[in-house]
Amino acid sequence: MVATPEIRPHWTPARIASRSLEILREEGLRGFWFKLLGEFCYRRLLILRRPLADPIPAIEARVPLEFGILEPGDLDDYLAFHGDDPREQLEGRFRLREVCFVARSQGRIVCANWACFGSHYIRYIAYDLPIAPDEVYLYDSYTHPDFRGLAIAPALAVHILNHYRDTGVRHAVTAVIPENRANRRARAKSGYLEQGLMGYVGLGRWRKHFHWVRA
Ligand SMILES: CC(C)(COP(=O)(O)OP(=O)(O)OC[C@H]1O[C@@H](n2cnc3c(N)ncnc32)[C@H](O)[C@@H]1OP(=O)(O)O)[C@@H](O)C(=O)NCCC(=O)NCCS
Repeated sequence: MVATPEIRPHWTPARIASRSLEILREEGLRGFWFKLLGEFCYRRLLILRRPLADPIPAIEARVPLEFGILEPGDLDDYLAFHGDDPREQLEGRFRLREVCFVARSQGRIVCANWACFGSHYIRYIAYDLPIAPDEVYLYDSYTHPDFRGLAIAPALAVHILNHYRDTGVRHAVTAVIPENRANRRARAKSGYLEQGLMGYVGLGRWRKHFHWVRA
């Protein structure tokens, strides 16, 4: 599979400081430490898996939502909602036929989650994840900061799980940074179970990847 080229956002000192505070607030000191370690030699992600044959709970967000799929022509709306990834990178996802599910509140995008099949290059751990033919891989789940804690990401997750179950997919898979408590909580609500760990240890350009999945 061809990965889209990495286009890094412009990191100014103010942006680094605000991102550090956000990590400390959301993931605690442990999360901040692992992020720092991740900059140099060790990164890992928990693999979560969700069998779609299991009952999918009904989850109501605490604000009315409309669900939909982002069209390439809606990228300006998406970038206004979540500007971390540059436009070129998002256009690359569309070229790879990846799908972005969105939840809108009063017309405004408040939450998104991307889905893909076949394989997916996980930039964070520089790893080409193979995805089984009966699986969908979900990534980049994001709720606008003003709308967090309202069960919006779990409600969108349930919409996505129902959508793929109805098209014959058997498992949903995702990966989370272990210290990201909010994401783990949100995923647990829609029935994901921890199944393994993947990542790398490395120094400089040398990297040894690992990928463990529980039997
Ligand atoms: C992870 C994330 C998508 C969850 O979305 P959400 O719509 O807020 O999901 P929920 O409402 O179920 O909240 C999940 C947990 O977030 C935490 N939370 C609650 N209010 C919050 C707030 N105002 N701000 C941050 N986190 C909050 C709580 O731990 C909550 O769990 P709880 O309901 O058991 O208390 C969202 O926090 C987010 O966008 N985070 C930044 C991006 C990210 O880390 N994405 C995942 C990796 S790609």
